[in-house]
Amino acid sequence: MQELEDLIRTIPDYPKPGIMFRDITTLLADPKGLKKAIKHMAKPFEKEKIAAVAGIEARGFILGGAIADRLECGFIPIRKKGKLPWKTIGQEYTLEYGVDVIEVHEDAIAEGTRVLIVDDLIATGGTAEAAAKLVQRSGGKIVGATFIVDLPDLGGMKRLADLGVESHALVS
Ligand code: PRP
Ligand code: ADE
Repeated sequence: MQELEDLIRTIPDYPKPGIMFRDITTLLADPKGLKKAIKHMAKPFEKEKIAAVAGIEARGFILGGAIADRLECGFIPIRKKGKLPWKTIGQEYTLEYGVDVIEVHEDAIAEGTRVLIVDDLIATGGTAEAAAKLVQRSGGKIVGATFIVDLPDLGGMKRLADLGVESHALVS
């Protein structure tokens, strides 16, 4: 996936000194790059009877909607605290650069729903792990998680594997 890697811009010291920020806006703006990313993020799950994509705010929304369309399933937003209008369940997590809470509507995921978690990037895995816990606490069955970028030195995929979640990334 060198083509996709070449479309991602790296910005040093954003949003804090020491962080090498992988900026996917340059990939999103490229029609062929965007199409290729969506296709390959969805591919491993085409035969998995996914009932819903759970997309993580904010960049997971952009990719998750397109992947849900491709897999012909629904989309469930996992949002930062205070953004969802109905009753929610929340999960705290630690980021590479801060602490936050994500939430999902308490009635968004029916018992046994086959869910694919989508985000642009996995770093420490704190966000994806919190999303996975929200899906599990809701009674959903996590079929997998899919990302454009994995930062392997930060161990996120290992953290998901420890939760029993199989994950895929296109660039690492
Ligand atoms: C980024 C990225 C992932 C998360 C990965 O989102 O889109 O959601 O960080 O980091 P982790 O694996 O260490 O948890 P961010 O929190 O910057 O939010 P944004 O998408 O709203 O900008
Ligand atoms: N989220 C957490 N770490 C990140 C990074 N290095 N680049 C982009 N998004 C991130």
